[in-house]
Amino acid sequence: MQKSLKPFPPKDAPGLVGALRSATADLHQAVERLPVMTRLTAAAADLADYRRYLSAMALVYGGLEPGLFAALTAGLSRQWVAALGVRPKYPALCADLEVNGLSVPAKVPMVVVTPADGTPGSLGTALGGLYVLEGATLGGRLIVRQLRRQLGGQLIGASFLDFHGDQAAAAWKGFSGALEGLAMAQFVVSEQSIVGARAVFGQVYRILAEVDMSPCEA
Ligand code: HEM
Repeated sequence: MQKSLKPFPPKDAPGLVGALRSATADLHQAVERLPVMTRLTAAAADLADYRRYLSAMALVYGGLEPGLFAALTAGLSRQWVAALGVRPKYPALCADLEVNGLSVPAKVPMVVVTPADGTPGSLGTALGGLYVLEGATLGGRLIVRQLRRQLGGQLIGASFLDFHGDQAAAAWKGFSGALEGLAMAQFVVSEQSIVGARAVFGQVYRILAEVDMSPCEA
């Protein structure tokens, strides 16, 4: 990773978000150290590195988002869903793949995140999983800035990495504030969210670790 990227983990936060951050910091760091990510964030990153990453992330989000969003909408009122401000990122990934001349996966196997008590797709678990997929936008914004510096106009189709654009900090504030509100209203048991967040990070790790790093045409 280049020095210009902020170090992870960021400053400790109280509450559920702080608990999720501490409980997943080891997995976040393990993901950051995978070859596909170190290449993406290296000074010498090229289009092939970016395209490898995009294809892998499509498998991550394509597999996870349907189950997580289904649990969210089944378990929460529209007002709470709106307060969280989350929307699926898989369509942005598909658009980026297409712009980059890459094929969209025909069918991504759906992954259901199961909490310790065996209840599939519980709300608390899904919220922990969404914390991971939403939080990725924070690092994503830093990565896309660096890629733009490195690749200039060659970098096309970056709507996933730059999902919230200039609103990234505001979107995170909204999401994490709503998450804390749900915890205070006792909609979420933090242990279940941690299980969900760790399971989702584990899935992210497995998919990114399998990326073929042999040279390919950009
Ligand atoms: C090389 C790759 C990555 C780097 C360098 C990176 C870097 C960062 C940085 C610097 C932050 C803190 C940003 C801030 O506070 O403004 C962050 C937050 C976060 N990232 Fe990553 N990230 C990477 C990949 C990922 C991936 C692949 C995921 C999951 C799919 C992920 C999930 C998260 C989460 C959940 C947070 C929020 C943590 C919190 O504040 O509670 N990151 N990342």
